Amino acid sequence: MDVRQISEEVTARTKVDTTARDVEKVISCLSSSSHFWEIVCNAQKPFSVVAEIINALWERGFVSIEPNGEIAITQKGQEFIKEVSIAPRRDFTCPSCDGRGIAMDKIREWMQKFDELTVDRPKAIADYDQGYITTPTVMARVALMAERGDLEGKRLLVLGDDDLLSLAAAITKMPREIVVLEIDERLVDYINDRAQKLNLPVKAFKYDFRDSLPDQFVGSFDTFNTDPPETMEALEVCMTRGLSALSGEGCAGYFGLTRTESSLKKWNEFQQMLLSKFRVAITDIIDNFNHYVNWDYLLGSIRDDYSFIQVKPRLNWYRSSMYRIETVSGFGRIENKPMPCELYVDEEALIYKPEKTLTKA
Ligand SMILES: [Fe+2]
Repeated sequence: MDVRQISEEVTARTKVDTTARDVEKVISCLSSSSHFWEIVCNAQKPFSVVAEIINALWERGFVSIEPNGEIAITQKGQEFIKEVSIAPRRDFTCPSCDGRGIAMDKIREWMQKFDELTVDRPKAIADYDQGYITTPTVMARVALMAERGDLEGKRLLVLGDDDLLSLAAAITKMPREIVVLEIDERLVDYINDRAQKLNLPVKAFKYDFRDSLPDQFVGSFDTFNTDPPETMEALEVCMTRGLSALSGEGCAGYFGLTRTESSLKKWNEFQQMLLSKFRVAITDIIDNFNHYVNWDYLLGSIRDDYSFIQVKPRLNWYRSSMYRIETVSGFGRIENKPMPCELYVDEEALIYKPEKTLTKA
């Protein structure tokens, strides 16, 4: 048996290009964890790819699936791992900042304030593919913006805000003004209500980013923040809206991109699109910066054909890399027109059931 054979099988089943190295990486993660969601988190490969690799290993008797869904390497598997010398995954992540590079002690007070302010926040729902980031993440993200000079005295646009980053940013009293454009009315009302009660410079409006950006917001912000759905189309629409809102050169955009729902092939396509279509430079990609709170609808919205998948996650496994882009000289007007598109479902998406497809009529 060789890993290449498995990678070819997995490519055929998932329609996502999978290499022999990908298979080795998943085996390496299996050597350090038996919990599916931890393996997905560490392997940094699309969800369906990890699932099919584990299944292929099970078919060959290299792993066994325990009744509780835990994945164990068998004697046969151990011998194989030794034979091809795959080392267990090692972890050297800084435990005090979780690898974000932000001194958490300096933002502790804001984190506490944010938790108090948002204690009754709306729950994440499947309709808009929601899942929000943890409090340390949202506050570290705000701190990163401040550190890069993109927050203090600036106008910030938040495109989609189930993370409530607008309120997190407002707590610091740094931004001059914050505008939220959000499709979910529950969130629009919630953000406006909190902002009004605490007299924060935040205004939220209902908006579907497939519609063109309203005129009053075009070219009027210093910074945008978003967490796009990860089909190529949605990524392009999101970048178009965010960048249309920026006022000129030297402005910045912040967003997360996962490895769980986006293969490196998609990263490559996305980065090419970003650099060829827009006058921007990618200044930062911080691996695993964004950690998401586990959402209630996960197990009901994903495939249920493998028992090791239908296991409640025991860690905040869903993570994304923090991107920062900056507009460079020559940055100008971007075509701002309606862009109908598939937002949530492609081969690499977590949600795969056809009835969950949420294309606008
Ligand atoms: Fe650190």
